[in-house]
Amino acid sequence: MKFFIDSANIDEIREAAGLGILDGVTTNPSLVAKEGKDFRQLLDEILAIVDGPVSAEVVSTDQEGILREAHELAKIHENIVIKVPLIREGLKAVRSLSDEGIKTNVTLCFSPTQALLAAKAGATYISPFVGRLDDISIDGMELIEQIITIYRNYDYRTQVLVASIRHPLHILQAGLLGADVATIPFKVIDQMFAHPLTDSGLQRFLDDWKKSDARFV
Ligand code: E4P
Repeated sequence: MKFFIDSANIDEIREAAGLGILDGVTTNPSLVAKEGKDFRQLLDEILAIVDGPVSAEVVSTDQEGILREAHELAKIHENIVIKVPLIREGLKAVRSLSDEGIKTNVTLCFSPTQALLAAKAGATYISPFVGRLDDISIDGMELIEQIITIYRNYDYRTQVLVASIRHPLHILQAGLLGADVATIPFKVIDQMFAHPLTDSGLQRFLDDWKKSDARFV
């Protein structure tokens, strides 16, 4: 299972990369806007930290504009993955990018049949948004299960990238279902480390050691 960080914040990306568990990065226009930096500069900084796929999203909504932006982004670095919204014009662009050998991440997926369309268009990744579905009382993980079943039935190569993750339980469920990638907010990466028995257990080991005559050799 690959772990991407869902962030455009350089401090978060650097810290997650330092943990040695990071395979890539996903950004979106909202995350980029939050940083208040030039998009190109931000991408260059991210690419210098992480040697793996970095999703950068287009903001045009017509095929021609999407392709123009995609080619600009693809020129920056071979690790750039073009993030494209799951709309008609987007999937037309994904088909031609895929034919050119440019990697794509189809975003804003909320149904299994949308995911099927993305696979047929040749998407490298599909990003189903589990948290946003949970938010409206629809089970986001059920969508992941359905997509994985459909892709396995027909041996589609499109990788399932679980997005809009809100808590470690989403990662657990994604792993049990065999999702290819989880893109995780920094806060959730942090939460995954935590267990009260780890903290109390470590404290007891250290206290017992201190009280004894044992010396570290
Ligand atoms: C990732 O690719 C998406 O842009 C992101 O996971 C959306 O997450 P949100 O629903 O927390 O904004």
